[in-house]
Amino acid sequence: MNAAWTGQYDATQIILCLSKGHKTYKNIKLNKEFTVSFGTKKEVAACDYVGIVSGNKVANKIENTG
Ligand SMILES: Cc1cc2nc3c(=O)[nH]c(=O)nc-3n(C[C@H](O)[C@H](O)[C@H](O)COP(=O)(O)O)c2cc1C
Repeated sequence: MNAAWTGQYDATQIILCLSKGHKTYKNIKLNKEFTVSFGTKKEVAACDYVGIVSGNKVANKIENTG
């Protein structure tokens, strides 16, 4: 997913404001881990896709990004 409502907290922590309805939120609660990365110009289409399509509705969301 895309996350814009974010920030840095102290020197070693980050803040993410995530809707509980997102598949990403459910996956974090399930697996107790997550990855954060910054999108690049080269990846703009994939970055756009993950922000407008939900894993709740499209099972192969990540594969679709290529
Ligand atoms: C530019 C952009 C920023 C977004 N920022 C947030 C955010 O900070 N928090 C949030 O809960 N959703 C945010 N969203 C919405 C999710 O990225 C979007 O609903 C996504 O499809 C959720 O995917 P998932 O259900 O597979 O986790 C943002 C979307 C876009 C396009």
